[in-house]
Formats: sequence, C-alpha cells, structure tokens
Amino acid sequence: MKGSTGKDGGAGLNLIIRGGHIVDPSQGIDGIGDILVEEGRVRGIETEGSGFGAAEGGPYQVIDASGMYVLPGLIDMHVHLREPGFEHKETIRTGTMAAVRGGFTSVCCMPNTKPVNDNETVTEFILRKAYAESACYIYPVGAVTKGQDGEELAEMGMMREAGCVAFSDDGRPVMNSLLMRRALEYSKAFGVPIISHAEDLSLSSSGVMNEGPLSVELGLRGVPAEAEVIMIKRDIELAGLTGGRLHVAHVSTAGGIDALREAKKRGIAVTAETCPHYFTLTEEAVRDYNTDAKVNPPLRTERDVEAVKEGLADGTIDVIATDHAPHHRDEKLCEFDRAASGISGLETALPLSLRLVEEGVLTMGQLVLKMALTPAAILGIGRGTLKAGADADIVILDPRREFRVESERLLSLGKNTPFDGWLLKGAVLMTVVKGRLYRWDD
Ligand code: DOR
Repeated sequence: MKGSTGKDGGAGLNLIIRGGHIVDPSQGIDGIGDILVEEGRVRGIETEGSGFGAAEGGPYQVIDASGMYVLPGLIDMHVHLREPGFEHKETIRTGTMAAVRGGFTSVCCMPNTKPVNDNETVTEFILRKAYAESACYIYPVGAVTKGQDGEELAEMGMMREAGCVAFSDDGRPVMNSLLMRRALEYSKAFGVPIISHAEDLSLSSSGVMNEGPLSVELGLRGVPAEAEVIMIKRDIELAGLTGGRLHVAHVSTAGGIDALREAKKRGIAVTAETCPHYFTLTEEAVRDYNTDAKVNPPLRTERDVEAVKEGLADGTIDVIATDHAPHHRDEKLCEFDRAASGISGLETALPLSLRLVEEGVLTMGQLVLKMALTPAAILGIGRGTLKAGADADIVILDPRREFRVESERLLSLGKNTPFDGWLLKGAVLMTVVKGRLYRWDD
C-alpha cells in the first residue's frame, strides 16, 4: 500500500484471540467472539462459539481475551513525529513506539519538520526511515505551501505520488485565501483532504492562552475563540466554492462546531477532528502557568468542552485525533509566554476517550468509528477494520484496569503531558501491528 510502511508486512504471525468483546463497526460486530490471525492477516471472526477449535494445536499462539475489548488498531490522523530535524523532541522510532503503546497502529505525520515535508524527497526520506524503524504504519501529510511559508503552493502532485495522504500547513494556517482555494481545487483532483489548522493569525496575534477573564487575571495575552471560528467559516466557504475536501484539525470552540454543523447541513464536503484535551480540560489547567497545558489552539471554557462533546455525539465531529506534539523538557521549563505549544498525547488518548463512553456521550462502536474506521475512510487507506484479509491491526484493551500516568515513563521522548499523575481507566494490554504482537501487561 503506497504511503504505508510495512517492513515485515505481517509475515509469520499466527494467533487465536479468544473470547474478547469484539467491536468492529465495519462489519457491524459488537459482541463476544474469537479472531483468527494467519500470517499477520485476519483470517476470520467467529461470534457463534465454534471458536476456531480446529485451528488449535496448529502453530498458533492462543490469547485469552475474556473480559477485554478487542478492537481494530486505532488510527491517529494528527501526529508530530518531528523527524527529520527535531530528533531531540521525538523520532520516528520513539513516536511510533508511543503510538503502539497507546493502541494506535497507523499514524499520519505532520509536515512541520526541518526540512518541511514540502517535496517528494522529504516524503521519501520519511517513508524509507519508517520502513526500517517504525513500529506502526506511517502516512505522511505533505505541506500545502513551500516551507509552510504561506506564499507558494508546494508540489502537491509529486508528494501525492510519493505517498502523502493529505496536505496541511499544520502548526500554521494558510492565511492567503487564494492559496487555500487553489489547494482545495488540487485536493479535489488528487482525491485527498486539505487539513486546515484554523487560526486567523491577525486575531490570535501572539496570544498564549484562551482570551477571557482568566487571561486578564493571569496577565497573559489571549487568543479569542473567533480566531478559530472565522477561519473555519472561511474554509467552509472555500470548500463550497471549489468542491474540494476540507478536514478541520483540532477543533476547540463552540462557535467552530456550530459552523461545522451548519456546513454539513448544507452538504459541504467537510470533516473535523478534536483531541482528548479539548473534551477533558478547560483553560483552568493553565491557571498555575503549567506550560504542559499550553497548546495551540488553547484550552477553552466549560461551555466549549460541552459543545465539543455535543459535536462528537451528534456526528459534527467525525474523528478523535491526538495532535501528539512532543517537546523537549527545556522547551517547556521556561516562562509560559516563551514555552512551546503542544501536548504529548499518544499514550493517554484512548483512556481519556473511554471516559466519553462511560459518561454516555459515545457508544463503544462510535468511539471505534472516530478513532479507526472514519480516519481510514477520510484518508482512503483501507484500514480500521477486522475484515477477513485485512492486515492484523488489533488492540486488546482492559476497560477496567486503572493506571497512573507517569510522564517520565512515557515511551514518547515528549514528557509534556498535563495528565501527569492522573489515574486513568482503560489499559492497552496488547497491540498487534506489522506482524508483531506487543504485550504491555507485564
Ligand atoms: O500545540 C500545538 N503544537 N499545535 C500545533 O498546531 C502544532 C503543534 C506542534 O507542532 O508543536
């Protein structure tokens, strides 16, 4: 599969995963069953109890998954792997190990590396490196503009050819509306989405947290919600004008969600994602100037958090992604104003998202849709399913097991999490990807 990175492509792994609660929306499965994996591929699912008994005694490892969820491997369409250029923050190896630890079997890597992934040479470098070193599948996102400078379109066609599955200047918006229009026109021709980092820079100025009474109280410059809302509205109109496919990244505001809801009613081709921190935390998390809670867009208000949950529940928000943004300790151990923005999110995303299931915001099936099948569909990558013949991308999850987040023990080089010390429920026990079985329960 172009754009993917299957070094060992699944050869050799034979498993029977027995008695787990399988949730696979691609086949309408939500019940107890067994999964047979042969040579790294799903051979079949048995939910009627016959249980692949005949296969036992063969060259199969048998895994008892009773009491566990067995899900398609998760797909994170928004990850910063930092390589090339910022290996002190993260590498392809460490970032994908963190992904697999968190239950993700495929990730999209954003182009704000050094050099920027704005041409096929960088795309090819990432894929070559990934082929050799990546623990999971990697799908690169190419830059919309050269150097992410917002002035000239990048060679999108060549990058698409080399394996990019989407285009974005993530980390920065495409401020020039004509360039955004052209990018959407090309995206239509290539059949890939443009991922919008929706931020009106003239409004966000050099803000470092949400604008409101708290930013005044803390003496920090604020970013108004409108900086996001206005750009989402602009991009929706441009998607309508061009017929291109728009995907809005890391939505954080009630106003943005209202705009997306309206756009979907109008039949505009737009999808959207949010991240666990936007439905778990409010701006209160930065009250003590905690730089690990500094993120762009910033954490918002209680009302926004409620709107994000409503947007997830009614389908306005299609995807949960992490925006995994690892930074070196030194880039966070400084004044709030000067600290880097971003949260290391791959290893906490699943348990934080499971809270939505516990709260009744989403069903387990809807969660799997938002974290596996829908991102696969948006990216056109044919994963996120346990259908017979698919690569065995599988996560086994103990929904009751609690664990305490210890930032220093994260596999990511980025220890920058505002969830350090939190007790979370829902532990990934095993991940199957690229023909390997990872056990995390010992
Ligand atoms: O907080 C963020 N960090 N938001 C972004 O959009 C970019 C990211 C990064 O690359 O660190």
